[in-house]
Amino acid sequence: MSVTVEFDREATVEVEDLEQSLLEISRAAGIPHISACGGNARCSTCRVMILEGLENVAPRNKTEAKLADRKGFDAQIRLACQTHITGPVRLRRLVIDEEDRKIAQSSGRKATGKDRKLAILFSDIRRFTSFAESHLAYDVIHILGRYFRKIGGPVLECGGYIDKYMGDGIMAIFGLESRDPAQACRDAVRAGLGMLKELDELNVYLREQFDTEFRIGIGVHVGPVIIGEMGHPKKMQFTAIGDTVNIASRIESATKIVGTSMLVSAEVCALLRDELVAGRSQRVNLKGKTGEHLLTEVLGLREREAPTDEAAPAPEPPSDD
Ligand code: FES
Repeated sequence: MSVTVEFDREATVEVEDLEQSLLEISRAAGIPHISACGGNARCSTCRVMILEGLENVAPRNKTEAKLADRKGFDAQIRLACQTHITGPVRLRRLVIDEEDRKIAQSSGRKATGKDRKLAILFSDIRRFTSFAESHLAYDVIHILGRYFRKIGGPVLECGGYIDKYMGDGIMAIFGLESRDPAQACRDAVRAGLGMLKELDELNVYLREQFDTEFRIGIGVHVGPVIIGEMGHPKKMQFTAIGDTVNIASRIESATKIVGTSMLVSAEVCALLRDELVAGRSQRVNLKGKTGEHLLTEVLGLREREAPTDEAAPAPEPPSDD
């Protein structure tokens, strides 16, 4: 026995396999149904409005219910990737303009990004604007080039990925290879310490040649991010996005409030436990974030004791990349 599914203004299909989700039914009918998270109940792009036959739609599962609650969806707004039917329905896709159609056609069933737990490092030169204003433009370019070459070294040596340069700032991602959040934090902190060491050497040159020196702030946070290629199809760029990135940036800014060069979040401290040589800790309100965040100054990193066989971590499952 088949049931009728009418995609309003798009197609009407007869469906026999009711094990399929509405998204699978839609895709099988050739409808370019956008699904940014790849059907994992992590976005709202596949959502549909049930126009008729809501009684033939199975109740929300836990993941859909959580997202619907967060987004304040009415009962007839459903995530197509999570929704199954038991009888005929008429529905309308909601994210449906021409651009989305093209995106859906080019990305197929793939998610636009991937969820990962990574460490993010931000660094910035203090009072760079006044420095740039008081020096010749080509001197600034020369010094900045030398600066990026110096401090980029430790990032790359520690397995980091330089995500972007923002004026005089850098954002770097750690953990893309190791898939171990503690290792990602260790690498990020080690890179930050290396950057400060390189800066000391650069400052000798800057004092001698330009009668100036740089001070920088570094912030590190770890947490969930979405990574992937983003941007215009002709200029796509790999990056990480999410609140973890925003918080790492705010932690870097907080180095000015605390009056230190490098701060890490409580989450980084927890993962590095005895390894971190910590200085002051301070509760700080981060701009644009609610509540206070406990930030800790980093003075160094102790060598880790080699794990015994008993304590050795279980091997990572093979990557499905
Ligand atoms: S595709 Fe993201 S929630 Fe359905």
